Amino acid sequence: MTDAPQRLLLAALRRERIPRPPVWLMRQAGRYLPEYQKVRKAAGGFLAMAQNPELAAEVTLQPIRRFGMDGAILFSDILLPLQAMGMPLRFDDGVGPVLEEPLTSPERIAALRPLEPSESLGYVGETLGILARELPESCTLLGFCGAPFTLASYAVEGGTSKGHATLRGFMGQDPRAFSALLDTFADAVGRHLAYQIESGAQAVVLFDTWAGTLGRNDYLRFAMPATERVLSHVRGKAPIINFVLNGGHVLEDIVGLGTEAVAVDWRVSLPDCLARWGDTTAFQGNLDPACLLGTPEDVAARTAELLRAVGGRPGHIFGLGHGVMKQTSPDAVAALVRTVQEHRVVSGSAARV
Ligand code: CP3
Repeated sequence: MTDAPQRLLLAALRRERIPRPPVWLMRQAGRYLPEYQKVRKAAGGFLAMAQNPELAAEVTLQPIRRFGMDGAILFSDILLPLQAMGMPLRFDDGVGPVLEEPLTSPERIAALRPLEPSESLGYVGETLGILARELPESCTLLGFCGAPFTLASYAVEGGTSKGHATLRGFMGQDPRAFSALLDTFADAVGRHLAYQIESGAQAVVLFDTWAGTLGRNDYLRFAMPATERVLSHVRGKAPIINFVLNGGHVLEDIVGLGTEAVAVDWRVSLPDCLARWGDTTAFQGNLDPACLLGTPEDVAARTAELLRAVGGRPGHIFGLGHGVMKQTSPDAVAALVRTVQEHRVVSGSAARV
């Protein structure tokens, strides 16, 4: 069976030869867009917006309408499954996420509810249903979850943390209980991804924002087996993009997990990744989001430079090494997307039209 030929993102995930790389950006929906700010204000906040299927679908579609990316990522958050498991969650302006009852005792961990996505995250299924109907055919619908280690970091710290002292203390003092917590999250995430795929997601992204803070031994001991457990729920159901921020030192291990794509940040060389492992996995990335703080001309030049460096190798999904920053001008995002979309790969090498 073949997809509509214009579904470039799915084709890139299969490492097919295609006229140009597909492009989508982490946090492509968000505060840098005035139309997002408007919906957020009317909804009365981020959570109210993310949990209302019509509004969540609307903000997912905003960047697609404005820029025409090849992938649309569900508007939601990696922390909503924690709320669905019984952890009170709020987002405070200027602070970020706050989990008021962090998992700092065995009793709190024992009180976590198993995740039943169709019951407690039904709004996600509804949002995906709307998007599956409304997206242009050329655009791939992406679902996502946080990876177990990253979820554990928020659940144990109670929010974003610099040093992760509580998390690392737990990991060092009671490694068995910590691994058990990761397994609990792995099963929740696995079920949630499977639910998103059943609801219309055509590929899924796993965000491991904090696993790159671990040394290799701890990555192999804690984060990676939990990710592997997530994959066991989802493999064969839809292609998976695994993103580990700051994961350069464990890249070979990440590639070894066998996901269809690995997303890398700007600290590694994307052409080197493709040269080394491009026959087994696709790669997504990897412009520095700070590039988008330059003029549209700068952005176009940096984008063209990366395209040239990749040289038209199959299996490249154009993206950023992390999310779009809220200070970004929409004109910069437009310049990036336009430069990728005007690019043409010529018989294995690259040229600008
Ligand atoms: O466009 C998209 O990428 C889709 C939606 C999306 C959001 N969060 C919306 C959001 C996705 C895929 C995420 C993932 C997410 N959430 C991650 C993994 C990726 C990464 O950024 O590393 C993490 C760690 C979170 C947790 C989270 N959510 C934090 C730390 C914050 C506060 C910091 C910040 O950037 O504001 C959020 C809030 C959040 N999630 C916003 C958005 C658009 C901002 C909310 C607002 O309008 O105030």
